[in-house]
Amino acid sequence: MTGSSQTSPANLGTVRVLLTGGAGYIGSHVALVLLERGDDVIVVDDFSNSSAEALRRVEQLTGKTVQVVEVDLADRAAADAALTDLEFDSVIHFAGLKAVGESVAQPSRYYRNNLMSTLNLLDIMREKDVRKFVFSSSATVYGTPAPGVARLDESQPIGRGVTNPYGWTKAMIEQIVTDVQRSWPELEAVLLRYFNPVGAHPSGQIGEDPSGVPNNLMPFVSQVAVGRREKVAVFGDQYDTPDGTGVRDYIHVMDLAEGHVAALRHLEPGVEAFNLGSGEGHSVLDVVRAYSEASGREIPYEIVAARAGDLATLIADPAKANERLDWRTTRSLAEACRDSWTWQSQNPNGFAGA
Ligand code: UFG
Repeated sequence: MTGSSQTSPANLGTVRVLLTGGAGYIGSHVALVLLERGDDVIVVDDFSNSSAEALRRVEQLTGKTVQVVEVDLADRAAADAALTDLEFDSVIHFAGLKAVGESVAQPSRYYRNNLMSTLNLLDIMREKDVRKFVFSSSATVYGTPAPGVARLDESQPIGRGVTNPYGWTKAMIEQIVTDVQRSWPELEAVLLRYFNPVGAHPSGQIGEDPSGVPNNLMPFVSQVAVGRREKVAVFGDQYDTPDGTGVRDYIHVMDLAEGHVAALRHLEPGVEAFNLGSGEGHSVLDVVRAYSEASGREIPYEIVAARAGDLATLIADPAKANERLDWRTTRSLAEACRDSWTWQSQNPNGFAGA
């Protein structure tokens, strides 16, 4: 079978993949990994929270070309016009608004954007008979786990105690995909529940480039390290964790990107959810220390009040993905900090400086 271009569960041949939101943080890393495999990549993005420069750099790093289509998928007419004549055999759906706090302030915008784009995309896939679908979900679908449950596996209920509209859109989309598959049994769908993606491609050419004040810990820490911000606000130190600060499962974005290739390889009729995480927890102070070591910079921090809706601990049980996708994380938190720092120090203002 060497050199075969057939797609089978064990051997993913060359694929032509549509990446919605492919110019964003995770999408651009997945684009890079797919191009390096020899796959064709088409990116659909509205560039509302991403930069075409990311894709230019992906092309530079791989020596390959990315086909780019600028469209807002929530606009059905525009989505139809853009996708009807495009040829692709699989879809990875990253596109969506993702700021938790903003979703609380602008719920309609979040529901309209995230749900409409997904509904339109699934309709168009069905019309074109494109059956392979990977969805960028989140550990946030687990909401507030029952007391005592710290390591989450996929059998945990979803949508219980979700505290914000962003999280609800992820849980709702999982339900939508499940219902659409019931009516269309040929659909092959995987739901990837990401834990906390961090780090960057080791070249430092692409990475996370949040607009405004970063909501998430590592991009905030990296902006303190590079001197754009004064100090890290540590949200609470009275949690029931080893040092009192929140514990999360940080996953290197390159490990995460490889998880998408594993998911494409796995696709079969049905809907299957997988956690993508390392299975290890690190506290906020662990991250600050690891980043300080990686960057050689002092990172001042201050303990402030806990953030509403935050959990003490959220760690993946990645056993299902380890076994069924034959995938596991191989990169450490220290490597994620090193690669994030390479990106941040070479691009102190993100893609805007380019
Ligand atoms: N934290 C700080 N200071 C900051 C930012 C975060 O102390 O400035 C703490 C948080 O309290 C938490 C940890 O750092 O303990 C990680 O926080 P993030 O905001 O980086 O990540 P979350 O775990 O809150 O949220 C992430 C994604 C969401 C996703 C969720 C799933 O950002 O999109 O995981 O659980 F929904």
